[in-house]
Amino acid sequence: MIDKSEIQKQLDFTLMETSLDGLGKLYRGKVRDNYSKDGKRIIITTDRISAFDVVLGTIPFKGQVLNQMARFWFDKTGHIIGNHMLDHPDPNVLVAKECTPLPVEMIVRGYITGVTNTSAWTHYKNGIRNFCGNILPEGLKKDQKLDMPIVTPQTKAEHGGHDESVSKEEILKRKIVSEQDYDLMSEASLKLYEKGVEIAAKQGIILVDTKYEFGRDESGNIILIDEIHTPDSSRFWFAEGYEERFKKGIEQKKIDKEYVRKWLADRGFTGSGVQPELTDEVRINAARKYIEAYELITGDQFSSDTGDMKTRIENNLRHGGYL
Ligand SMILES: Nc1ncnc2c1ncn2[C@@H]1O[C@H](COP(=O)(O)OP(=O)(O)OP(=O)(O)O)[C@@H](O)[C@H]1O
Ligand SMILES: [Mg+2]
Repeated sequence: MIDKSEIQKQLDFTLMETSLDGLGKLYRGKVRDNYSKDGKRIIITTDRISAFDVVLGTIPFKGQVLNQMARFWFDKTGHIIGNHMLDHPDPNVLVAKECTPLPVEMIVRGYITGVTNTSAWTHYKNGIRNFCGNILPEGLKKDQKLDMPIVTPQTKAEHGGHDESVSKEEILKRKIVSEQDYDLMSEASLKLYEKGVEIAAKQGIILVDTKYEFGRDESGNIILIDEIHTPDSSRFWFAEGYEERFKKGIEQKKIDKEYVRKWLADRGFTGSGVQPELTDEVRINAARKYIEAYELITGDQFSSDTGDMKTRIENNLRHGGYL
């Protein structure tokens, strides 16, 4: 594990945003800068951190962690379904095949959990048993493993809108995607999740739930796009002690970005009003958590690329012939 002083040194060198000429049309998400040109999408994962739908600042090495974690999983799952990864010229950059995204996000859940108003557990607690067409049995407890993982699709809202959970039936009725495409995505999602569970388990980690996005490539094939099995799209728990905590009804030990959310919530910020400025300490701790997550999940040691990132990224892109 990287030491604190190295993270400290990187505090002033984090990547907030890029604006690179010649890479194509820029779309800035909350975390990633996406450039599109000539059928390629250059995805630069920055160090921005967002919580409650607000960008709050940067966390050292976060972009590298997320990008390399996605790369790890794309490599491990390419045999299940093709994905958009073409090249990785820099620790923060993925060159992907530009696709036409399919407007449904496939969420796979192996456990019933969550605490927010919209979470599956909250709905279950309030009496709901039908989850996008999956009927769950009576008597489940919070964080319980489901007999079989379930797929709960969501329609992708336009920028700024809210996603909506829908059943397969509703998706077909609204002609959002064809039945054939839906089934392909649904089956692939379950297989990807199963693979994720298997690999994570070897590391002593439970892949609790996750989200996949698919797109159609230029030949019309449906492939996996966006990212896969990172803490931004997935929940992870520690396997050790899961049963005991579950039986006692106490919170699971998790790997995720709750740390910063919690820090903010403790200071009264849940999305509106004045946002507290992230302190060096919280940024360093969050960085450690991301790096820890990377090492735990992949089993690889994180090798940090320090120093000025903009120059490095530009050089690597130029070297790869993208600039
Ligand atoms: N290979 C691809 N081809 C086309 N679109 C893609 C590809 N990979 C991902 N996308 C889409 O690019 C968009 C931008 O993603 P990004 O995650 O950066 O921003 P966002 O989803 O708008 O916001 P957020 O930061 O909340 O995730 C997403 O809608 C995603 O579905
Ligand atoms: Mg996104």
